[in-house]
Amino acid sequence: MFKRFTAITAIALAAVTFTALQALAAPAAKKILVVYFSHSGNTRIMATQIKNASGSDIFEVKPVKAYPTDYRSVVDQAKKEISSNYKPAIQTKAPANLASYDVIFVGSPCWWGTVAPPIATFLTQNNFAGKTIVPFMTHEGSGMGRSEDDIRKLCPRSKILEGLPIRGGSVKSSQGEVTAWVKKLGFTK
Ligand SMILES: Cc1cc2nc3c(=O)[nH]c(=O)nc-3n(C[C@H](O)[C@H](O)[C@H](O)COP(=O)(O)O)c2cc1C
Repeated sequence: MFKRFTAITAIALAAVTFTALQALAAPAAKKILVVYFSHSGNTRIMATQIKNASGSDIFEVKPVKAYPTDYRSVVDQAKKEISSNYKPAIQTKAPANLASYDVIFVGSPCWWGTVAPPIATFLTQNNFAGKTIVPFMTHEGSGMGRSEDDIRKLCPRSKILEGLPIRGGSVKSSQGEVTAWVKKLGFTK
């Protein structure tokens, strides 16, 4: 009787140990956030596609003072802001639980070859040390431009992965390409 009890206890202990080891071996799921600014809607579409593929949370960066809708005016204003390194005020600094995310996709329209100033504000005002940042961009010919280098300068203590640029004109049909990219990075849900 005692022998049987000992054998059952040993099997139970082995099972518990095995389960505990399995839990230790399995990598913890990464917590992912998509952050974006969009002036005319293209980058918002791409951000939503990344959210669809990764099951992440999403946060829109909104400037306190909206940019003009007139193309010439916004192009002129953006040129001045970018050349003077101006960081416009944004409505909300970050989601309250920003510290809990491991991976942050950061998206912007390409403005004069780099990220739009509200994204520069967001990256300057928050701490991304130890986090992985994945840039993405919509553009009309410049691709990622110099945005990855600029993000690297703004977040020197983060790991910056290679970004994905999508042409604004074809963003509505880019869910497949975006999902394939997110999958390749290992961040699909
Ligand atoms: C102020 C401004 C500057 C731009 N500069 C560039 C540029 O340097 N290179 C480029 O390929 N496209 C440029 N574009 C085009 C946008 O990057 C493109 O239309 C983008 O998809 C817009 O994204 P959104 O709809 O999310 O605002 C510029 C557009 C604006 C309004």
